[in-house]
Amino acid sequence: MAFTRLSAIVVLALGASQIANAAITKRVTCASGHVTANAACCALFPMVDILQDQLFDGAECGEEAHSALRISFHDAIGFSLHGGKGGGADGSILAFNSTELQFHANGGIDDIVASQFPVFQQLDLSAGDFIHLAAAVGVANCPGAPRLKFMFGRPPPKAAAPDLTVPEPTDSVTKILERFADAGFSPQEAVALLSSHTIAAADVVDVTIPGTPFDSTAGTFDTQVFLEVLLKGTAFPGNGSQAGEVLSPLAGEMRLQSDFAISQDPRTACFWQAMVNDQNRMVTEFKDAMAKLQVLGQNTRKLVDCSDVVPVPQPFAGPIKFPASFSNKDLQLACKNVRFPNIATVAGPAPTVAPVPGS
Ligand code: HEM
Ligand SMILES: *[C@@H]1O[C@H](CO)[C@@H](O)[C@H](O)[C@H]1NC(C)=O
Ligand SMILES: *[C@@H]1O[C@H](CO)[C@@H](O)[C@H](O)[C@H]1NC(C)=O
Repeated sequence: MAFTRLSAIVVLALGASQIANAAITKRVTCASGHVTANAACCALFPMVDILQDQLFDGAECGEEAHSALRISFHDAIGFSLHGGKGGGADGSILAFNSTELQFHANGGIDDIVASQFPVFQQLDLSAGDFIHLAAAVGVANCPGAPRLKFMFGRPPPKAAAPDLTVPEPTDSVTKILERFADAGFSPQEAVALLSSHTIAAADVVDVTIPGTPFDSTAGTFDTQVFLEVLLKGTAFPGNGSQAGEVLSPLAGEMRLQSDFAISQDPRTACFWQAMVNDQNRMVTEFKDAMAKLQVLGQNTRKLVDCSDVVPVPQPFAGPIKFPASFSNKDLQLACKNVRFPNIATVAGPAPTVAPVPGS
């Protein structure tokens, strides 16, 4: 079987100058017709189709795509540069779900584990490759997102990560930045990773309002979350004040305490503010930080770069706007030395943000 598959593969070497180069750039046409840099990646294209059909409701940027990104973070961050924690981006959260789902910070992750498990069982992938491929494919379904890298070949996870590696929204900025630093991320990279909250909603912060988004455009990978977290809060979206949330500016929206604190802290406020309406900065920094996150704890020399199996996301037209009725007067800006961009306001009365369906 391996033979027939190989015979169906056509290897096209590129220019002669590139052949002379030690790192030969190859183009392989798979039996399926897809083109990739490495024949080992051919097996992934049909798996991407299965993920799109069975997990992402036909390539949607919905609840499962959002949760696939969140679980990739909770998996990978179980790692320390100094040892003594978990195996990082190894899929332990899926393979050792009965342990890791007990951790308080993994509240709400049970839903995506339940959706992913039957699909995982169908595919010939390690748990780590499954979790991190699903995240890259899910993110690609969101207009405006970067095309994340995908490195292929993680070995099966050895053990569950220990508890208390995943930041909580009730943690101080110092505690959050210390945890990120312990895993190898600077404050700027931590802010870049929080771009994820542009396609995010909460199910368990306030259990009375599942699917409550963090910005008014949870189906688009835009910089709207960086703007809306900076708007003065006026009300709680659900059953009063819950641990981990602060007053939110919009009806139907949740503002996490940690996002707000990071937007105001002198160590991170300017990184946060600089993201507002700078789509290019956000996607570039997010892509780089995710590339690092998704191979934490892995021997990258043993992985194959299969990034070209990840679908190309739709662009986001932009620019972003203040939600209706909001303007500069509503901003809480802590960074004085980054000029705030000029942003127009959507016409009409203040909106009520709809929950993310399926939560
Ligand atoms: C300071 C660090 C972070 C904290 C405290 C935090 C906290 C949270 C909380 C409390 C929720 C809502 C959970 C629920 O009630 O269902 C959430 C959702 C989410 N988080 Fe984070 N998070 C952090 C960083 C990240 C990072 C680095 C990523 C990815 C790179 C990420 C991706 C997401 C996504 C995509 C969701 C939405 C999931 C969904 O809508 O189903 N978060 N986060
Ligand atoms: C957790 O993993 C086990 C296999 O280790 C699997 O049988 C089970 O279905 C998983 N749990 C959930 C909630 O998916
Ligand atoms: C709403 O919050 C109150 C306390 O603030 C609590 O007693 C009540 O059970 C909550 N309602 C629901 C439906 O969770």
